[in-house]
Parts: sequence; structure tokens; C-alpha cells
Amino acid sequence: MRRFFTILVPLLGLWIWRGKYLLYYSILTRPDLPDGYYYRGDVSTHCSNLNSSPDPAFKYCEDASFWELHDTDGKLEERRVIVSCDSGRKQWNTVMGPLLNPTPRGSLWTYSPTSGKTTRLTLENYPENHTFHPLGVEIYPSYAGNASYMYVVNHAARKTVIEQFLISPSSSVAKHIRTLSHPLFIAPNALALTSPTSFYVTNDHVFTRRLPFIGSFIPLVETIFGLPLSFAAHVTVDPNEIAEKSVLAHTLAAPFVAFANGVSVSPSGLEVAIASTSTGAIYFYDRNIANNILTFASSVLVPFAPDNINYDHDGNLVVSGHPHFPTLTKLAANKTDVAPSWVVSVSPVLAHTSSEFDPEATLSASAIVPPSNNRTIQTLFQSNGNTLSSGATGLKDTLSGNVYISGLYAEQGVMVCRN
Ligand SMILES: *[C@@H]1O[C@H](CO)[C@@H](O)[C@H](O)[C@H]1NC(C)=O
Ligand SMILES: *[C@@H]1O[C@H](CO)[C@@H](O)[C@H](O)[C@H]1NC(C)=O
Ligand SMILES: *[C@@H]1O[C@H](CO)[C@@H](O)[C@H](O)[C@H]1NC(C)=O
Ligand SMILES: *[C@@H]1O[C@H](CO)[C@@H](O)[C@H](O)[C@H]1NC(C)=O
Repeated sequence: MRRFFTILVPLLGLWIWRGKYLLYYSILTRPDLPDGYYYRGDVSTHCSNLNSSPDPAFKYCEDASFWELHDTDGKLEERRVIVSCDSGRKQWNTVMGPLLNPTPRGSLWTYSPTSGKTTRLTLENYPENHTFHPLGVEIYPSYAGNASYMYVVNHAARKTVIEQFLISPSSSVAKHIRTLSHPLFIAPNALALTSPTSFYVTNDHVFTRRLPFIGSFIPLVETIFGLPLSFAAHVTVDPNEIAEKSVLAHTLAAPFVAFANGVSVSPSGLEVAIASTSTGAIYFYDRNIANNILTFASSVLVPFAPDNINYDHDGNLVVSGHPHFPTLTKLAANKTDVAPSWVVSVSPVLAHTSSEFDPEATLSASAIVPPSNNRTIQTLFQSNGNTLSSGATGLKDTLSGNVYISGLYAEQGVMVCRN
């Protein structure tokens, strides 16, 4: 309990005074963003739709994750991308509403930078009567061609669960292993694996839209006031696929985060980052590798409401988010066509040198948030929504140089920007 309070008190303090930037820039005013800015050059020559043969199911993609394929010597051969999409999101969104029709299923896809192909995964053994609304997705690397466990947050009709699949790099079939459920899977959103059978999971709210009567406004109060109620947990599942009890352990890893959204483990495994959407901040934690306990270390403000986050291979954190939350809310309610996007890379720096950072971007992050002591921010991509709407996830592949951006309500699903 004592540990709770040593974390709660500094977080409460941060929440109160730091929330002001987000309130002013991402809620009260609409940032003046270009049609499209990409840090390597012209958007029209560098960026294109990931799926060149458009499929009506390949749109509204919340998450994208790397699937690392290693050869027999353990050398990294390719970073494929796994994408979660839900073309029915405007009828079923348990985070932002509405809750109209849960029946049409979402979809999972893989992209191979080697072949340039985007392929839809076929779900095998998936229960006939089970709805499927994928959100956070993470997959364990494959070694010497072996199959990988993939975990997918599913905002199913009655409650949010986590689906476990097995998928081989040589096939496009995702075999359903089982549905993971737990009383504390209150509102799972994003995942970060710590082994083939364990992961961190964020819960974005404690009061969800699913609640009868209060569900239409209490979650909004939790979001708008940035109440630090949500949390990240660490979950261990039984490696025995047919074990009666699949969740072996569920421990609170990071309590009292306001709207905990994206989560990512650094390449060294020693640091974990969690995005707090409603305070516009990223929290960094030191991770004890042996027991997965997290200790709050520092935080950094980003110039928008952060959504998903992913470390690149060099240890920089790629953060995607929503620069104008009211427009995103309108988009979720189908009352406007696009919402703006912004993707930054947050890097550790030894000493803070200048209050001017991110000078290249059309709208510099330094125009919105103050500098951090030991992290710097560089814009990778930004758009008023015309090039890519409602960017939810950014991924940077240090191998191919590609940057991938998925859009929660993007008609093209995912965009890829090349070097
Ligand atoms: C969203 O609005 C468009 C028209 O603006 C309409 O054609 C479409 O059916 C609406 N979608 C949903 C899910 O209500
Ligand atoms: C779905 O079908 C399975 C058997 O195929 C059954 O055990 C389960 O209770 C059903 N679930 C619902 C929600 O109807
Ligand atoms: C694939 O191989 C890796 C490395 O040996 C191992 O950690 C992982 O558990 C294997 N995957 C599965 C699904 O067995
Ligand atoms: C960054 O600075 C904060 C205080 O400003 C400190 O608590 C934290 O340990 C520093 N992190 C690193 C990686 O130096």
C-alpha cells in the first residue's frame, strides 16, 4: 500500500499542473497543422497506402506491431507488421462510443516489407458465436521459422477479453488458442509482451461505457478531468494451452494513471513506457526483469493526447496521438470526416541543451510543450487529417527505414512512409 502512495502523490501533482498544456492546445484550441509533413521529405513521394489493393475491411486500424522474424542463428531477417482493423468501428467502440452493433467482425492483417504484400489473416477455430473487435495486438518474435503466440485485445459484445492465437510465418492462418478473461480486465486497451506467455496490459478507464445508466457520462468525466484511475497490470498465462485456468497471475504494475493507453517495453527490457491520454504525458518506469515490478522514474509531455507507443530498435519511443480531441470525438460519432494526426519520436538526451527543439516540423512540438530535462522530441509525421486521419499508432523500423502509421478512423487503414 505504501508503494501505491509513493506513486500516487507525485502523479497527482503532475496531473494537476501538467494537464494544462493538453487542455489548452488539444482541447480548447485547434492546432494549425499542414496537410502532411514527413521528417524525411515530401509526403507525396515518401508515403503511400500500405495496402495497394484496397479492401473494404482494411480500414479503421487501431494498432500495428512488429513481428520480428529471426533466422537459425538468431539474426533479425525481417520486421513484418501485424495490423488490427475494425471497419465496423463507427457502430461499436467501447472506448469512445457508440455501442450500436457488435456483430460485424474486425480483422487482422500482416505486411511483409520484403514482398510488399498486405495479407488478411484467416481466423481458425475462432468460436462461431464470439464477436471480434480487435484493439491492441502484440506478437512474440519467431525464431528459425517457429510459430508465434499473438495476443489481441477484443472489445467483444459483453466484455473485453484477450484472444490468444498461434501463427506461423509461413502461413496466413491465425489459430485461435483460447479466450483470456479476468475480473480485472476492466477496459484493456494495449499490450506489451514480456515472454511468449506474459504481458503488460493497460486498462484505459475504470468506469466504462458498458456500465448501465452511468456509462454514457461517467467515463467522459474520467477522461475530461484526467482522473488518475486507470492502470497497467502484468499478466501471466499458463503455457499449457488446455489448462483449465488460463490466467495464472494478474498483478497491478502501474496504478493511478489517467487514461492509460499505449504501453511498450524498451529493447533492453529495463524500461517500460505508458501513455496517459488525458494528461498528454508519457510515464517512464524502471522495470525489474525478474519480477516485472515497475517503479515510476520520470515523465515527458507530448504535444497531443498520446495513443499507442512503441520503442524502436535504438531505444527511441515512437508516440502517436490526437492533437485535437474534440474532433476525434466528433469523428467517432460520425459527425465529421477526418481528425488530425501527429507522430513523434522521444529520445533520451544526456543534458538538455536548448529550449528550442523539433525545429523542422511545420508545427514544432516546442510551440506547445516545454522541454524535458533529459528527453527530446522530434516530429516524424503530422497532418490535419487530409493525408492520414486520426493516427493511433506509429512504428519505426530501423532495418528497412519504414515508418508505419495506422489510423483509428483512417479510410486507407495504414500508411507507410519510406526513407
Ligand atoms: C456515417 O455517416 C455517413 C454519411 O455522412 C453515412 O453514410 C454512414 O452510414 C454513417 N455511418 C454510421 C455507422 O452511422
Ligand atoms: C458459444 O458456443 C459455445 C459452443 O460452441 C458455447 O459453449 C457457449 O456457451 C456459446 N456462447 C454464447 C455466448 O452463446
Ligand atoms: C519459438 O522459439 C522461441 C525461441 O526458442 C521460444 O522462446 C518460443 O516459445 C517458441 N514459440 C512457441 C510458440 O513455442
Ligand atoms: C530524468 O530527469 C528526472 C528529473 O528531472 C529524473 O528523475 C530521471 O531520473 C531522469 N532520467 C534519466 C534517464 O536520466
